[in-house]
Amino acid sequence: MRIQAASRSPCRVGIYYCNAWVLLRNPPTPCGEECAIGGVSVDRSSGFGRRCVSFRRRLTTSCATRRRSAAPAVFREMLSQLPINFRAFTFIDIGSGKGRTLLMASDFPFRRIIGVELLAELHQIARENIRRYKNEHQQSFAIESQCVDAREFEFPNDPLVLYFFNPLPQSGMKTVLSHLEQSLKACPRDAYIVYHNPEHRSLLESSFLREFASAHQYVIYRTVRIDG
Ligand SMILES: C[S@@+](CC[C@H](N)C(=O)[O-])C[C@H]1O[C@@H](n2cnc3c(N)ncnc32)[C@H](O)[C@@H]1O
Repeated sequence: MRIQAASRSPCRVGIYYCNAWVLLRNPPTPCGEECAIGGVSVDRSSGFGRRCVSFRRRLTTSCATRRRSAAPAVFREMLSQLPINFRAFTFIDIGSGKGRTLLMASDFPFRRIIGVELLAELHQIARENIRRYKNEHQQSFAIESQCVDAREFEFPNDPLVLYFFNPLPQSGMKTVLSHLEQSLKACPRDAYIVYHNPEHRSLLESSFLREFASAHQYVIYRTVRIDG
């Protein structure tokens, strides 16, 4: 496969080779592990299992791996630990794929639920999943998927619960966390980060975050209130 963009920078060439290696080791399955939530069948491989994203696209973005999303029980366990009035908080899934986590979050009475997804293919599927979703346990109905690069996403001025399931490489995580810090400085408010499968844990050991809870699969951080 000829990759014209590969000549742009040695760093980018490195990413392509790294992604190619990951893809060869973890080829997408014809049909990923299915999980029916509220009548919507969403596989846990974040979309790649269904081959809805082309090989080239997977090779040239940071999302080559066949990573899974949270099991409903683990997700509920993580959110149940938050000592918050959910009605005041906005939940944001950074790298929301087909929207599976957004649907699970709607079992909690969040003020709003926002998915931030880079790939238009997955964003479109998420929109359709949100539209079709029906569940008697649903408590939040203001759910949206936004097709935007998380590194350019502007955080709303609400109290926040951010969910990360390793959507970004280290540099991207750094950018998102730096934008979060700036946003909290500009508009002080409470924020929690639920970091599932925390590969870049050291990045979150910073001055504006404190570890609040942890278990084998996740760490929850709470922001230190930044006033002015
Ligand atoms: C491991 S999946 C997680 C899916 C979802 N959070 C869940 O739990 O079901 C990571 C997602 O992050 C997305 N992603 C990767 N880089 C991104 C970026 N820069 N901005 C937004 N989304 C991104 C990928 O396309 C992929 O859908």
